[in-house]
Amino acid sequence: MKKAIKITDNVYYVGAHDYNLRDFHGSMYPINEGATYNAYLIVDEKITLIDTVEIDFYDEMLERIRSIIGDRMIDNIIIQHAESDHSSAFMKLMNEYPKAKAYVSISGKRAMLAQFFKDYDYQSVKTGDTLNIGRGTLTFIEMPMIHWPDNMATYFDDDRILFSNDAFGQHIISFKKFDDDYDYSYLIAKAKEYYANIVMPYGKNVLNKLKAIADLELAIDYIAPSHGIIWHKYIGKMLADYKDFASLKSKDKVVIVYESVWNNTKTIAETLAEGLGQNDIEPKVYKLSKTDSSLILSELLDAKALLIGSGCYNNTLASEICSFIDKAISLNIKDKYVGTFGSYGWNKLPIVNMDKKAENIGILLEDFNIAINYAPTQEDLEAVYEKAQKLAEFLKEKN
Ligand SMILES: Cc1cc2nc3c(=O)[nH]c(=O)nc-3n(C[C@H](O)[C@H](O)[C@H](O)COP(=O)(O)O)c2cc1C
Ligand SMILES: [Fe+2]
Ligand SMILES: [Fe+2]
Repeated sequence: MKKAIKITDNVYYVGAHDYNLRDFHGSMYPINEGATYNAYLIVDEKITLIDTVEIDFYDEMLERIRSIIGDRMIDNIIIQHAESDHSSAFMKLMNEYPKAKAYVSISGKRAMLAQFFKDYDYQSVKTGDTLNIGRGTLTFIEMPMIHWPDNMATYFDDDRILFSNDAFGQHIISFKKFDDDYDYSYLIAKAKEYYANIVMPYGKNVLNKLKAIADLELAIDYIAPSHGIIWHKYIGKMLADYKDFASLKSKDKVVIVYESVWNNTKTIAETLAEGLGQNDIEPKVYKLSKTDSSLILSELLDAKALLIGSGCYNNTLASEICSFIDKAISLNIKDKYVGTFGSYGWNKLPIVNMDKKAENIGILLEDFNIAINYAPTQEDLEAVYEKAQKLAEFLKEKN
């Protein structure tokens, strides 16, 4: 009973709704209401499928395809990304449509062979290559590192659609496939969360690619990503916001992330928040073990600084904080400011040395490594508050 959803006169949504997915790409990106793997069918003189789906959703995709073309064959399959959420159903689909020609970027061909081992006479394409499918023509645009080296986008001139794969995606599951059914603020918050959790490390590539796409001067009426809904009404606004994401444009905001067993580090964290918040820098305070990392990354994207706190436990930091520091290093947010704080009992070194672990995340704040013995005293808290106040003044000067 799964049917295609009409997008334009010639294009249909034939992807899958993974309602129960709660961890996107392993534990990397916790989500609340599932995800979609978008595949699109273009019915022109030739029949072309843009992307496939995750293998467990093969039947759902096939049902949606057949609801439109019945027993007709698919002529072309465009593999825009070799990652499993878009390509693992490809081999099975080739059993059904053995005559289909598969188009993929050069690096995508390598990744397909290295994952699925079988050559399908892949046609390698690069930016500017075209494929005529009848009234319309497809133009391929390589999108390296948005999100893997092989990513590409495909432009369909007849309906002016840019199929963008991972770029511009969001995790929204709905039969309402266009942006004009939603509030823009809701959509952009979802797109921001997706960007922060999937694309953030590759901001420079995104900026270059946004410019390259603008330079191509394509007339774009729709941007159809591989996750979530299709941009139509808000394309201009969304692209402007995406540019801000990619350049890590920040607000007067600081993210404070900590772990605490007996609440001493928590007290420091909340005193820092008070000193910032009372001085016009919005603090976002998160106990790591009680918060979805996807929310923290989303807030970090447009924060000016990150403060990381931990108690000292068995001569080291809380394990959650250690792995968060590693993750933060991988995000490539080198122009954000970083400070550390914590509480210890009898060995202050792990807290004092937290700076050394955190220095590869971004720009280490001068003299912002707070180490307090057991519970902070009133004087300690006053000093912490004052430090936060000074930080607020410093950050307000920064753009
Ligand atoms: C399981 C556990 C192990 C600890 N191990 C150490 C340690 O190796 N060195 C140390 O200086 N303090 C140690 N402490 C003491 C804490 O660092 C101290 O109580 C600190 O104030 C805890 O901060 P918190 O209240 O934010 O959890 C340990 C505490 C706990 C609960
Ligand atoms: Fe991907
Ligand atoms: Fe994806």
